[in-house]
Amino acid sequence: MISIQNVTKYFKKNHLRKDDTDERFRVLDNISLTIQDGEFVSFIGPSGCGKSTLLRMIAGLLVADRGKVLVDGREIEGPGSDRMVVFQDYVLFPWMNVRNNIAAGLKIRKESRETVEKKTAWAIDLVGLGGFERSYPHQLSGGMKQRVAIARAIVMNPDILLMDEPFGALDSFTRISLQEELIQLCDKNHYTTCLVTHDCDEAVYLSDRIVVFTSSPARVQEIIQVDLPRPRDRNRPEFIEIRNHILRLGRIQAKQQERQGRCS
Ligand SMILES: Nc1ncnc2c1ncn2[C@@H]1O[C@H](COP(=O)(O)OP(=O)(O)OP(=O)(O)O)[C@@H](O)[C@H]1O
Ligand SMILES: [Mg+2]
Repeated sequence: MISIQNVTKYFKKNHLRKDDTDERFRVLDNISLTIQDGEFVSFIGPSGCGKSTLLRMIAGLLVADRGKVLVDGREIEGPGSDRMVVFQDYVLFPWMNVRNNIAAGLKIRKESRETVEKKTAWAIDLVGLGGFERSYPHQLSGGMKQRVAIARAIVMNPDILLMDEPFGALDSFTRISLQEELIQLCDKNHYTTCLVTHDCDEAVYLSDRIVVFTSSPARVQEIIQVDLPRPRDRNRPEFIEIRNHILRLGRIQAKQQERQGRCS
């Protein structure tokens, strides 16, 4: 279980205006949220509101200024192989082939050669990259690279999968097929998953709950429970209603942001 308790985070301002008295700005404002084991939760909200910042905190890459993040009752002290992150821009090692990219984490963990081979083959099979083991990242399509990035995370057998707009750069056909694969993978392996996305359709298709954030500083605006049966039908009226509701919330935030911009 992930427990985010009253988390507030500040960053240093890049551009200080003459009348600025504070060198910092608040990016996350008193966020509290609990994510249950095996739950799939999406973070959605205006660009720049702080979604990636919150995800990086769960990953242990950033520390809260106030409040804390706990996993299974223990405060996070840094990154751990129980929490694997998949970023939007793949971040593959260009000099390694598919197999070695996926095996890299296991080798760092000093697993035996036999285990590395077995687990890597399992992950390659799971993401459907059989036959491409010897290909290098520059020889792969965007969708294939993202499959490698997902395989590299799941090969570590994490409890928690953290994904930051993993399908943002992909065309809509590839995105939809990867969404279908991802939800099956999460279900089969009982991952607890946090997904940052800008895509309302993706959030409704995948999530048990959707956390909608306000514009900066991010606060929880609304948490939407999605109780539709899986695999979800994107044309079902209830699906469309939830998607439209999130879009409405987004429009309200955009208007507020616009007004704040005009006033400051
Ligand atoms: N390391 C950092 N130092 C200073 N400011 C930062 C840092 N990381 C992020 N920010 C700022 O914090 C704010 C929130 O950034 P974050 O990346 O969390 O937003 P986001 O909601 O993920 O946006 P997007 O949807 O565009 O990816 C932004 O104003 C960003 O410029
Ligand atoms: Mg982001």
